[in-house]
Amino acid sequence: MTYQANTNRYSEMIYRRCGKSGIKLSALSLGLWHNFGDVDLTENYRSILRLAFDSGITHFDLANNYGPPPGSAETNFGRVFNEDFKAHRDEMIISTKAGYTMWDGPYGDWGSKKYLVSSLDQSLKRMKLDYVDIFYHHRPDPETPLEESMAALDLIVRQGKALYVGLSNYKVEQAAKAFEILKQMGTPCLIHQPKYSMFERWVEGGLLDLVDQYGVGCIPFSPLAQGLLTNKYLHGIPSDSRAAVGHFLKSDMITPERIKQISALNDIALERGQSLAQMALAWLLKDSRVSSVLIGVSRPAQLADSLQCLQNIEFSAEELAAIETILKD
Ligand SMILES: NC(=O)c1ccc[n+]([C@@H]2O[C@H](COP(=O)([O-])OP(=O)(O)OC[C@H]3O[C@@H](n4cnc5c(N)ncnc54)[C@H](OP(=O)(O)O)[C@@H]3O)[C@@H](O)[C@H]2O)c1
Repeated sequence: MTYQANTNRYSEMIYRRCGKSGIKLSALSLGLWHNFGDVDLTENYRSILRLAFDSGITHFDLANNYGPPPGSAETNFGRVFNEDFKAHRDEMIISTKAGYTMWDGPYGDWGSKKYLVSSLDQSLKRMKLDYVDIFYHHRPDPETPLEESMAALDLIVRQGKALYVGLSNYKVEQAAKAFEILKQMGTPCLIHQPKYSMFERWVEGGLLDLVDQYGVGCIPFSPLAQGLLTNKYLHGIPSDSRAAVGHFLKSDMITPERIKQISALNDIALERGQSLAQMALAWLLKDSRVSSVLIGVSRPAQLADSLQCLQNIEFSAEELAAIETILKD
């Protein structure tokens, strides 16, 4: 059916400034790491994308290797984009990344200028886009000089292939050096994308302060710890869940201790009138240094549930203390 975007799509969403840039991002952004590959059902991911856009989500996050197979999430996104969203291109922030293995030989991985520039060219072809809004270096490269990787990002912006650049998985010290180099080049880093959730809190040890200091935005990925921070594993591992079918969330990560924590967090969420997923997302959004939270969903109903987190992103001191006690257990 021909898609008509919801005319009220901007009424419920919260928009937050990304660092000290001109860009505002929807408080929730949609990531296409899982569920948009050739192994997935077109009608399901089309419905997810439509619901996201209809709900005011403006930011869609991809990478060269998302699928499976690698590249297929970009191809599939590009197809749906061209069929449904083309008229809305200027309302969307589309990002992609390079940094993980993409093709054979010495130029298909890590952080050389050769890899980053050619990978983005391939991504644009797959998505049938003229440019992306944000191009990320997906992970730091221990061998390539940081100056070279940053020069590639700067070049890509000057070529008009990306409007902004970002970094992902850079630790505090590496990020500080990269921010400095990019600033000197005149292409300031727009955004940092780290793994951050109630269960993964390394960013609190300096990265959040650093992005604040440089006026860089922050978009936590895997905010639900890939689904652990929901009620779905409380009574076993559902056969259609990521822990059952995926390679990245292993069933042995769902220990009795974890379930005890999840169950206690779930109780607090219920007292707040939220699902655990909603509370876990709200818990990240309580920090103004977090520009947007980057979620994944395997079906539209999960997105509908998670969107409700925006109804309450405030926490009392007692709630925060109770959550800390559970997380320290
Ligand atoms: N930069 C990087 O290195 C990097 C790495 C990883 C991810 N990312 C980005 O971050 C995005 C999100 O990562 P993620 O998919 O790991 O995020 P996540 O939000 O932590 O986990 C998503 C999974 O949680 C479950 N879920 C989501 N909402 C739910 C709800 N309301 N109720 C119950 N279950 C729910 C679903 O699991 P089921 O599939 O089991 O239903 C879903 O697939 C990715 O798409 C990607 O764009 C970036």
